[in-house]
Amino acid sequence: MACRKANIRAGNGREPSHGSRRSSVVPESYAPTPKLCIFAAPPVTTQPALPSLRPTLQLLGRCGLTWDQTRLPFERIRLRLESAAACANAIASMQVRGAPLIGAVAALGMALALTEALESAPGAAIAPGLLDACATPLLAARPTAVNLAWAVARVRAAVEASVAEAAADHDRAQRGVEAAWAEAAAIVEADIRVNLAIGRHGREVLLRAQPRNPHPERRLQILTHCNAGALATVDWGTATAPLYLLHASGVALHVWVDETRPRNQGASLTACELGAAGIAHTVIADNAGGLLMMHGAVDAVIVGCDRVCANGDVINKIGTYLKALAAHAHNVPFWVACPSSTIDRATPSGLAAEIEERGERELTHIRGIPEAGFADGTGAAMRPIEVRIMSEGQRIRNPGFDITPARWVSGLITEFGVVPAHQALSVLDNAGRSH
Ligand code: MRU
Repeated sequence: MACRKANIRAGNGREPSHGSRRSSVVPESYAPTPKLCIFAAPPVTTQPALPSLRPTLQLLGRCGLTWDQTRLPFERIRLRLESAAACANAIASMQVRGAPLIGAVAALGMALALTEALESAPGAAIAPGLLDACATPLLAARPTAVNLAWAVARVRAAVEASVAEAAADHDRAQRGVEAAWAEAAAIVEADIRVNLAIGRHGREVLLRAQPRNPHPERRLQILTHCNAGALATVDWGTATAPLYLLHASGVALHVWVDETRPRNQGASLTACELGAAGIAHTVIADNAGGLLMMHGAVDAVIVGCDRVCANGDVINKIGTYLKALAAHAHNVPFWVACPSSTIDRATPSGLAAEIEERGERELTHIRGIPEAGFADGTGAAMRPIEVRIMSEGQRIRNPGFDITPARWVSGLITEFGVVPAHQALSVLDNAGRSH
C-alpha cells in the first residue's frame, strides 16, 4: 500500500527517531552478558502440528462462521452467527474477541440487525431511530476496542448513503439492506489484506532487530502478549502477521508467549495458533518477561492493541504496559501492530478512554482440563472445567486493559507503514479519514 507522506515509513530499514534507539535506564551490571545468559539457545518446538484454525471468520450467506474462543484450545467448536443478538452476545461473552474480529462481527451484526428489523416490519423506513436500535446492542457489547464503533459507523454510513440515493420507499429499504451486507463483507475482506500489509511492514521491522545475544544457532527472539493473532482478526493477526511471514521465509524464529492472566489468551490461543503454524514458541508466566529481557533473550516485543489514542497512547490487554516498561529498561524495541481502524481521533489520551472492568470470576477461578480425567469416567478428557484458586470472599479488581504511554512505544506498525506513536493521527490524515 502506498504511503502518502514521508513520516510513514514502509519498512525502509531505519528506526524511528524516538523509538528503540533510546538510552537505557538499566545499570551497566544488568546489561545482557552472553556467558550469563541461560536463554541463549531457545528450545525448538516439539509440539505436533495442529490443524489450522484459519481463517477465523467466514461469511456464508447470512451467516458468520467462526470458532467459540471460550472453548479453545481444548475443544474446537464452530459458532454460527446468524442473528444480530448472536453477534452481540458472542462479542460480550468473548466467544469472539480481539479488536479487528470484534469489528468484523459487529459489522455482520449491523447487517443482520437491519435485515431482521425490515423483515419484522415490512415497509418500514430506514430512519435514524431504526439504525440506532440496530447499533445500540452491538455498541454496548464491549467498550474498549474502538474497531467495534468504527465498523458499526461504517455500515451505518453505507446504509445512509444508499438510502439517500434511492427513490421509492421500497427501493430505499432494499438498497439499504444490500448496502449493509456489502459493507460488512468489505470490512471482513479488507481485514485480511490490511493484516497482511501489517505483516509485510512488521517483517522488515523485526528483521532489523539487533540480536541481543549473538549465538551461532540463535533464533530471532520475539516476545508477545495476549493474542493479537489470526484468532483476534479475520486472518493473519496483527502482531502475528509478521511472525507468520518471517517463518514462511525461513527465518529462524522463536516466540516467547506471555500466558496473559487472567483469561490466558496467550497460553490458550496464541500458543495454539503458533503451534498449528509450526512456529517455535515457549509459553511464559506474565512476570517472566523482565528476567528474559535482562538476560538478553528478547530481541523485540510486538503486541496488538484495542485503541490508539490521538496522542499515541496505546490501550491493550492488561499487562502490556509492564512489558513496555521492562522493554524500555532493557533497550528492547517495543512495537505495536495495529490497523488504522484502531486509531481513535476522538480519544485524546489513554486516561480519557474507558477501560473495561471485567468480572471477579476471571480471577477467582481458572479453566482447564483435569489431568486425571473426569470422575465419572466418561473419558471426556477435553471438556474444560473451572476451579476456584482462592478462598471465597476476596475483594477483586479486574481491569481488562491498560495504557502504554506513546513514549514507550518504538512505533506503530500499520497497513500503511511504520509511524512513531505520537504521530498516530497522521495515518488517518494521510488516508483521508476524518474519524
Ligand atoms: O480481551 P481481548 O482478548 O479481546 O483482548 C485482545 C487484545 O488485547 C489484543 O491484543 C487486541 O485486541 C489486538 S488484536 C489484533
